[in-house]
Amino acid sequence: MPQMRLDKLLADLGVASRRELKEMIRRGAVTVDGVQERQPERKVDPERCAVAVNGVRVHYAAHHYYMLDKPAGVVTATEDREQKTVLDLVTPEMRRMGLFPVGRLDKDASGLLLLTDDGEFAHRVISPKSCVQKLYYTKVDGTPDEADAAAFADGLVLADGTRCLPAGLTPLGEGECLVAVTEGKYHQVKRMLASRGKPVLELRRLAIGALRIDESLGPGGFRELTQEDLCKLFCEPGMGN
Ligand code: URA
Repeated sequence: MPQMRLDKLLADLGVASRRELKEMIRRGAVTVDGVQERQPERKVDPERCAVAVNGVRVHYAAHHYYMLDKPAGVVTATEDREQKTVLDLVTPEMRRMGLFPVGRLDKDASGLLLLTDDGEFAHRVISPKSCVQKLYYTKVDGTPDEADAAAFADGLVLADGTRCLPAGLTPLGEGECLVAVTEGKYHQVKRMLASRGKPVLELRRLAIGALRIDESLGPGGFRELTQEDLCKLFCEPGMGN
């Protein structure tokens, strides 16, 4: 791993802003391998040096991964002049990490949204080539049935001629079903169900691959992905590991 400036390393980890870190380092709040380091420009190898801030060891992770329970009513974007975005829900430290959403959920949709600063990972999760399944719970107008499930499994052709990859639909009784897709076309699930005469009234993403939403987070809640969570995503057959 190439060496990097101490203040940049700590800023990348979301400890504080670069300006604040320069101050902290000069004040003596940071140690490298147990020795106080007062020069923000000091070069360190993040994988070999033990860096601590106020006595607390910081661990270098090349990238950051979070799950957010996106509430309905916020837009999946990093910034917006008028509307509240998913990045407005997280901490200033997280915003400094340069996180962005992995794929998108419509403004009126809720549920599992991943936030990361790892572009390659995001691409692989989203790409239909990876075959990572996204599972949605939907409330619809109408009663989804086995004919809908068969049409989804065959691969729907939408009204505008768009071809969808084969998808899963599990009827859950009157006005409810589960939908599993491996691609993320614009308003995909809504358009698929509308094409079957079952317009979506409510949409919530429950899972991405084997990773399920942590329902204890509640609307707008978020947490860093654990090693176990990451294994579930990175070990998906299509993720190339
Ligand atoms: N499909 C939709 O129609 N909307 C979403 O937000 C996600 C999938």
